[in-house]
Amino acid sequence: MEEKTFSLGARLEGCASFVRNGKVPADIGTDHAYLPIWLVSSGIVPRAFASDINEEPIKSAKRNIEKCGLSEKVTTFTANGLDLIPPDDVDDIIIAGMGGDNIAAILSSAEWLKNPRYRLILQPMSRASNLREYLYRNRFEIKEEKAVCEAGRIYTVICAEYNDTFSEYDDIQVYVGKLYSADRHAAELLRKQAGILRSMADGYAVKGDPENSGKYSALAERLENYVDGRKTWWQE
Ligand SMILES: C[S@@+](CC[C@H](N)C(=O)[O-])C[C@H]1O[C@@H](n2cnc3c(N)ncnc32)[C@H](O)[C@@H]1O
Repeated sequence: MEEKTFSLGARLEGCASFVRNGKVPADIGTDHAYLPIWLVSSGIVPRAFASDINEEPIKSAKRNIEKCGLSEKVTTFTANGLDLIPPDDVDDIIIAGMGGDNIAAILSSAEWLKNPRYRLILQPMSRASNLREYLYRNRFEIKEEKAVCEAGRIYTVICAEYNDTFSEYDDIQVYVGKLYSADRHAAELLRKQAGILRSMADGYAVKGDPENSGKYSALAERLENYVDGRKTWWQE
């Protein structure tokens, strides 16, 4: 890997686009440390943390950081989640390439994140709705969200910040987040989510649970209306 010449790919580029200029990011579950290396070598941030729970990824991260001459600027840790990240010395937290439930579990063990000075940049590989629900319940407001396409698969990238005045949310927001149906990739994700809600409704109907069947069917319909441009869910 040569400094400043490698490309991140759309998924990690989506994450990088939410990192604030001049701030200090921590990449949790960094694996090869591509993202922190790219952010520092592009001059977007002065330095960064790269942390992973497993030894092997950290060995690979260290090799890549050394090759790029960034050992003074990218600090690595072998740790679970945010365990060794110094709260006073970090601004933006990136957690990408993990399941939504794992990301929520990592966030929930760092109470110090409940502070508007931090920005969370989250890219769940699955169960994005569970992650959004965790965020809303804990007063993290989703400021922006974008759908990106890499190798034919669509991913969502969530940018959230703590806001202690944020409390009320509509059930449908858990499935929509800040994805806009006018965006082609976002529409595809939303359509897929509506299909999941429809299957859940059908599953409850088969089990003889009309209450839940009705609930998920109504959510699916709201999502379908939104994706097809018939109604916006926040004005209906
Ligand atoms: C699929 S890789 C994603 C790498 C990179 N973030 C990306 O998005 O391309 C997931 C990484 O997360 C690490 N990981 C999983 N659970 C973790 C946890 N609780 N704390 C820190 N790292 C974790 C794994 O060891 C692995 O290196």
